[in-house]
Amino acid sequence: MSGKKTKAIISLCGKGGVGKTTVSALIVKALIEDPSKRVLAIDADPAVGLATALKINVKTTVDDIRNQFIELLEKGGAGDRDQVLGLLDYEMTGALHEKDNLAFLSIGRSETDGCYCQVNDLLKDIIGAIAENFDYLVIDAEAGVEQVNRRVLEKVTHLILISDLSTKGIKAAETIFSVAVKAVGFDKAGLIINRVRDQEEMKRITLPSNIAFLGSIPEDSVIRNADIEENNFLTIESTPAYEAVKRAMRALGVAGFNTTTLPGEGS
Ligand SMILES: Nc1ncnc2c1ncn2[C@@H]1O[C@H](COP(=O)(O)OP(=O)(O)O)[C@@H](O)[C@H]1O
Ligand SMILES: [Mg+2]
Repeated sequence: MSGKKTKAIISLCGKGGVGKTTVSALIVKALIEDPSKRVLAIDADPAVGLATALKINVKTTVDDIRNQFIELLEKGGAGDRDQVLGLLDYEMTGALHEKDNLAFLSIGRSETDGCYCQVNDLLKDIIGAIAENFDYLVIDAEAGVEQVNRRVLEKVTHLILISDLSTKGIKAAETIFSVAVKAVGFDKAGLIINRVRDQEEMKRITLPSNIAFLGSIPEDSVIRNADIEENNFLTIESTPAYEAVKRAMRALGVAGFNTTTLPGEGS
């Protein structure tokens, strides 16, 4: 399902507000700086945000398509399985925003009541097929990784847990990790501590001993300002938070990040 081509399916999870969207956008930025890398960014958090950070104007979400089809199925007008698949495929291609080596897909809201498992599974199959055309997937997820498996893809290769310095955030990351270990397949996982003002602060927290620590990301005024002004994260200049994200990706062992100097990375 991850395809022969896909080098990494990276999913970012953590408590709300800790920086999942910010770090997702910076990872996307780092990856697409190399024009030979084809990247699919997926906004899988119903709270949305990645589209804004990447300045993408979302017209259709996967959930919109899902709802249209459920309506069609209920009216009995969807046709046989092949017709359904053909239509879904067509609609999904329309929901995929593509610009240069970056593509973007928004999953949309959480599911409505009732199990339309068949539609969900078909959509997941289509996302899986789309994913095969990309080298990297970056999924800005909601709190847990189960939703990613239920609504986006069965397998994640790299699970990134994010927290700020708060005990609540770190506990949430630990819980997400332990659920993922039991319920989800992944190859590598690690924790990032975001919004660290100085390294002294790091001494005040206890890092979970069972999760690899990938590094900290500084509190960064460039990031703050980019968010206030709704700037495109892809065009911000090199900044400490961005450099820290690239180091964390290397610590996690994501292919393409293990070179000493990355494109656009100043020495
Ligand atoms: N390293 C950072 N430095 C400064 N501000 C940050 C940093 N990381 C995140 N933020 C700010 O924190 C807020 C929440 O971040 P966000 O990425 O939207 O979190 P999440 O997606 O986990 O809910 C945003 O306003 C963002 O600008
Ligand atoms: Mg977010």
